[in-house]
Amino acid sequence: MAVIGIYNIKGGVGKTTTAVNLAYVAAADGMRVLVWDLDPQGSASYYYRVKPKIKGGGKALIARKRPSEEYVRATDFERLDLIPADISYRHMDLALDDRKKPLKGFSKFLKPLDAEYDYIFLDCPPGLTLSSENVFRASDGLLVPLIPTTLSMRTLDLLEAFRKEHDLRKLPVMPFFSMIDRRKKLHREILEKTLAKRRDFLRTSIPNASEVERMGLNRDPLPVTAPKSAVALRYRQLWKEIEARFP
Ligand SMILES: Nc1ncnc2c1ncn2[C@@H]1O[C@H](COP(=O)(O)OP(=O)(O)OP(=O)(O)O)[C@@H](O)[C@H]1O
Ligand SMILES: [Mg+2]
Repeated sequence: MAVIGIYNIKGGVGKTTTAVNLAYVAAADGMRVLVWDLDPQGSASYYYRVKPKIKGGGKALIARKRPSEEYVRATDFERLDLIPADISYRHMDLALDDRKKPLKGFSKFLKPLDAEYDYIFLDCPPGLTLSSENVFRASDGLLVPLIPTTLSMRTLDLLEAFRKEHDLRKLPVMPFFSMIDRRKKLHREILEKTLAKRRDFLRTSIPNASEVERMGLNRDPLPVTAPKSAVALRYRQLWKEIEARFP
């Protein structure tokens, strides 16, 4: 089993879109997959049409008042489950801070689910909070979507500095480019330069595509609504690349 945190300090870079599509592709490939929606906005829950209701809220979940299995919901797709988020998750950091080991709340919650799944994806909210640190401790790797802009690249430097300071050097980080607009010179330049010099970057990038924007209307993963689209194909390629990093 591998836990993959889909994370970026920055908001609106494609984290949820990536989680929803990659999890679908992995499950369609025969893997048993769980997505944990960690964002109080509940976007992943919305895309998968799962009701966002956490009994007792995030606080009870972290206090492990109920077995972890009770939070798991089936999606419409075989082998693909979801732990939805609701607005109570906005107090997640306070709940974590109440624990004896504030950095271990997420790992402890996930432990009983280990054996049930091949991959667990964590769809993270933006920010660098105690919840994010819990994600870092619970994950076997971080997948970091980045829009090729200067500011976006800077957030990756911030993450790297944080890893060094907090003894997280061993946590593999897999950045990749998302929402690329090939018409923009700056996007092309940053993409080409970065891929040429950084081996840690995944080679597959995700283009900016109108099919992705329509996911909000269709409420289904792209390989379901637009199976032949170039962008659905890219998500499949991206998954193959990631999977190869978890032998
Ligand atoms: N490849 C893409 N092409 C076009 N639009 C995209 C693409 N990826 C994401 N989007 C759109 O950009 C917006 C932000 O995407 P998404 O919700 O996945 O980002 P996020 O990083 O999860 O945001 P947040 O930080 O708020 O959780 C959404 O409206 C989504 O439909
Ligand atoms: Mg999101």
